[in-house]
Amino acid sequence: MSTTTVPSAPQAESGSEPGDELRACIIGAGSTGIAAAKTLHQRGIPFDCYELGDRAGGNWVYQNSNGVSSSYNSLHINTSRERMEFSDFPMPKDLPDFPRHDHIADYFESYIDHFGFRDSIRFETGVEHVAPRADGRFDVRLSSGEELVYSHVLVANGHHWDPRMPEPSFPGSENFEGEQIHSHDYKHESQLVDKDVVVLGVGNSGMDIAVDASYHAKSTYLAHRRGAHIIPKYMFGKPVDQLGASERLPGPIRFWLMGLLCRMHSGKMEDYGLKRPDHRLGHAHPTISGRILDRLSHGAITPKPNIESLGADTVRFDDGTEVHADLVIYCTGYRITFPFFDRDFISAEDNRIDLYRFIFHPGVENLYFLGLVQPLGAIMPIAERQSELVARHIEGSYELPIRPAMEHEISARQQAMRRRYVTSKRHTIQVDFDDYMKELGREIDKCMLAGEETAPAVDTSAADKSPLVAA
Ligand SMILES: Cc1cc2nc3c(=O)[nH]c(=O)nc-3n(C[C@H](O)[C@H](O)[C@H](O)COP(=O)(O)OP(=O)(O)OC[C@H]3O[C@@H](n4cnc5c(N)ncnc54)[C@H](O)[C@@H]3O)c2cc1C
Ligand SMILES: NC(=O)c1ccc[n+]([C@@H]2O[C@H](COP(=O)([O-])OP(=O)(O)OC[C@H]3O[C@@H](n4cnc5c(N)ncnc54)[C@H](OP(=O)(O)O)[C@@H]3O)[C@@H](O)[C@H]2O)c1
Repeated sequence: MSTTTVPSAPQAESGSEPGDELRACIIGAGSTGIAAAKTLHQRGIPFDCYELGDRAGGNWVYQNSNGVSSSYNSLHINTSRERMEFSDFPMPKDLPDFPRHDHIADYFESYIDHFGFRDSIRFETGVEHVAPRADGRFDVRLSSGEELVYSHVLVANGHHWDPRMPEPSFPGSENFEGEQIHSHDYKHESQLVDKDVVVLGVGNSGMDIAVDASYHAKSTYLAHRRGAHIIPKYMFGKPVDQLGASERLPGPIRFWLMGLLCRMHSGKMEDYGLKRPDHRLGHAHPTISGRILDRLSHGAITPKPNIESLGADTVRFDDGTEVHADLVIYCTGYRITFPFFDRDFISAEDNRIDLYRFIFHPGVENLYFLGLVQPLGAIMPIAERQSELVARHIEGSYELPIRPAMEHEISARQQAMRRRYVTSKRHTIQVDFDDYMKELGREIDKCMLAGEETAPAVDTSAADKSPLVAA
């Protein structure tokens, strides 16, 4: 199959009726949206990218004017620089292995200028509503009030910005006289100073915030309902996600090996007062921290089981112990939401959404979801490769199977996910970085074999930089 020639088209006009022109709408200019924009730009596919904030980078922009970034002052990446960078635009070598949020946000800004597609992004412009039309296109309403028609919509609105509070809330929480916030609303260490702080959750937010609290709060308690295998940032002097050669190992062996290395490095989680994990490493989203075990072993953080209830100024835990608390920080994860879709069109109840290869909606043509995966690895190289595949679908060189075949694949994948991962709303879109990258690469290669003329902009040959695991 040969590449379809894509006509260049003027920007969809306000109130315009559909013609036969092809023009894509990208929702969001976070790291995922800009990867999509760069790909369409390079392949000559006309598009407009809309971004709520006044700059690109989404979550990585601390105090982002979009009002929904989950970034905090002390945030550094936990997937190493070389693991996270785009394949065709390395991060500056003078950045540390785990750069801070502002380094990462600047990197995304320079990516736009390097590839020259800034003019295609409209900042401070939200997509307010998207609805399918009878002719297969989409009505798109912007925060400016403009109403446009697009042939394709690429959703890149992120899935780590809409806080999920504990459901149901803990008994007594309505009468607690201190402060209760979600990790999304934790921004700066000054929020912790001189307070008795209870942090709930042992995902990566819980780790970072408990460590911050251990330096700034009066006391810090880390509550958790399930144990986690805490993976250090470094082993053998290298970032853990660069330990090497693992993509050639089958998944179970890869994770067994990493589990063994973690035990040799840190010992048992129970030795630090944490719960024993009820699952094997690789069967829950990885928790990575270079500092939490150190702070626990210094007594700067006191581990606790799950919260049982709250009093006026106390928190009671499942083991019957009770502590004074001024601040409870719920590091309990995020919801997947699409505020611009009517709920009866598309929603993700309990974070579940049925997408073929985590991208294509089997019931809605020309609608694509990007970056909507929770990888054991970084999202950016994945978003880049997903974008390459979507571009080929738009061009016509990548064909989807018939709907029942897509639904069969989705169902099989979800069953496998349920079998492997501990039951939690955080485990509905999990992928293994290497395996998923290879899968996308194979799909892109099919287009090449089918006669596509243009070589892929990304190297689809190897999955890459050989991690054992990363988050
Ligand atoms: C605290 C924290 C740390 C993390 N650390 C890592 C890490 O180290 N490595 C890693 O790989 N991942 C990490 N993640 C995961 C994170 O999701 C990705 O790093 C990355 O932000 C995903 O990019 P994205 O573009 O998909 O989403 P986002 O960064 O959330 O960007 C989405 C963009 O879409 C815009 N947008 C949303 N709705 C609309 C709309 N209706 N109209 C117009 N624009 C809209 C937003 O303003 C935003 O700019 C972390 C997440 C959190 C919360
Ligand atoms: N430095 C970094 O790079 C960094 C920092 C922060 C976050 N992140 C990323 O951001 C994403 C979100 O991470 P996150 O830590 O915010 O969320 P998360 O990974 O979803 O973790 C949520 C934690 O809260 C627990 N939890 C959820 N609901 C609960 C309830 N009702 N009662 C008690 N415990 C509950 C979960 O336990 P169960 O497992 O039992 O559900 C889990 O321990 C991840 O991709 C993560 O890697 C990265």
